[in-house]
Amino acid sequence: MPTHMLQHKVAVITGSANGIGRTTALRLAEDGAHIGLLDFDANAVAEVCEEVRKLGREAIAIPLDCTDAVDVGSAFKQVREALGPIDILVNGVGQSSRNRMTDFAAANLETFDFLIAVNLKSCVLCSHQVVPDMKARGSGKIVNIASESAVNGSPRSWDYAAAKAGVIGFTRAVARELAPFRVTVNAVAPGPIRTRAIDEMPKNVIDSIIADIPMGRIGQPEDVANAILFFASSQSDYITGQTLLVNGGH
Ligand SMILES: NC(=O)c1ccc[n+]([C@@H]2O[C@H](COP(=O)([O-])OP(=O)(O)OC[C@H]3O[C@@H](n4cnc5c(N)ncnc54)[C@H](O)[C@@H]3O)[C@@H](O)[C@H]2O)c1
Repeated sequence: MPTHMLQHKVAVITGSANGIGRTTALRLAEDGAHIGLLDFDANAVAEVCEEVRKLGREAIAIPLDCTDAVDVGSAFKQVREALGPIDILVNGVGQSSRNRMTDFAAANLETFDFLIAVNLKSCVLCSHQVVPDMKARGSGKIVNIASESAVNGSPRSWDYAAAKAGVIGFTRAVARELAPFRVTVNAVAPGPIRTRAIDEMPKNVIDSIIADIPMGRIGQPEDVANAILFFASSQSDYITGQTLLVNGGH
């Protein structure tokens, strides 16, 4: 149910061509925000841009690699030129590289570098683009997508867990620095959410994941988008540095 809490706000969502990022972009647009859509996947992000415009909001889609500082700098400049100052940043880019998961003893450090870049560096680079202006304007909302892996240390995901724990530490430190300027920085930490990576798993694996979740179902992207909406809105103005687990009680 749209609340119109984000009327006239400008939000940038990274990783918004698919999954949680896409659903969040549409959720924030329903609630009134104009959206800058940043993603690798040029075709899919252009489609999401059209969907946002159909909701009556302004939108711009920018294909880029969020781990590349030059790409990121140019993308944020384009968003500001098209939509104006940025009120909300959702750092959604990330992945766990499930097909490359290994025990730590058999670690491949190339995968580690990749996971730190895609999960943590992307978040730092994009946040760096918005913080000076948010600080000067005395308002702003940054929402980072971490993972419950950072909290529970999922088996064979030591590198992903470390990268997402980095996102949580970054969230806390920057929240403290920006609190006097009324800029909030929070994180959501989803458990398993029904996106492409889960859909590719065999049914018996999905069933065993569900068996472990007290609510008896895998989360939907909407479950995460609703938590992000809370942190992106004025409803959370006195809350900063927090990490909210969205995991059905897991
Ligand atoms: N799905 C889950 O179960 C789950 C659980 C916990 C945390 N998360 C986190 O939620 C976030 C979204 O996950 P999802 O499952 O929706 O993933 P997804 O793969 O469906 O979507 C991620 C999007 O990010 C884009 N992307 C990836 N690397 C990029 C880069 N370097 N530059 C620009 N765009 C890039 C992809 O093109 C894709 O559109 C990630 O940070 C992920 O780690 C997901």
